Amino acid sequence: MSEVKLRMPQVTDGVALNHLVAASPPLDGNSVYCNLLQCGHFAGTGVAAEHNGELVGFVSGYQLPGQPHVWFVWQVVVAEQARGQGLAKKMLKHVLARPALAGVRHIHTSITPGNQASHATFASLAKDLNCPVSASPWLESDIHFAGLHDPEHLIDVGPFKIQ
Ligand SMILES: CC(C)(COP(=O)(O)OP(=O)(O)OC[C@H]1O[C@@H](n2cnc3c(N)ncnc32)[C@H](O)[C@@H]1OP(=O)(O)O)[C@@H](O)C(=O)NCCC(=O)NCCS
Repeated sequence: MSEVKLRMPQVTDGVALNHLVAASPPLDGNSVYCNLLQCGHFAGTGVAAEHNGELVGFVSGYQLPGQPHVWFVWQVVVAEQARGQGLAKKMLKHVLARPALAGVRHIHTSITPGNQASHATFASLAKDLNCPVSASPWLESDIHFAGLHDPEHLIDVGPFKIQ
């Protein structure tokens, strides 16, 4: 895919993000309102990827309350036509390179056990950052989702130090 531009999310990306996530199973959809907050309040810890004016990728996240050395990645999404070209990892590294995140030492994210693409993305990122990656049970299907959702494992990438 020709030139994909990475830029700061804007509140006006909310609806396009909502549509991109809806078209990208197994991601859970959020309300447009929630997407607007991700794009607005949490713009500094997220990134938008654009191709020919179309949103083709997005990373949403935030620094854990009280633990600013942990960047929690809420969702990573890449449009189907843009997958397999390194965009997910490029977006994650782009955010990590921001001066405001210079103190980040760990990435946390949660992944359903069957999401191989997501596991592979964070394992590959850990390799590039030369740090360990681990997975542990976090949100249980019965206890936290009333049996309506697969369990979510907590992935910990780190510790690492950004140059
Ligand atoms: C997961 C997702 C974001 C990956 O995006 P992508 O841009 O294709 O990923 P990248 O090209 O950066 O690949 C990163 C690494 O993961 C590997 N990978 C990506 N997709 C894979 C797949 N389906 N199966 C196996 N490995 C895969 C790549 O080979 C690469 O490894 P390498 O660096 O060792 O070559 C994308 O498939 C997606 O949006 N899926 C639907 C939504 C989702 O599940 N999001 C993650 C949950 S937060």
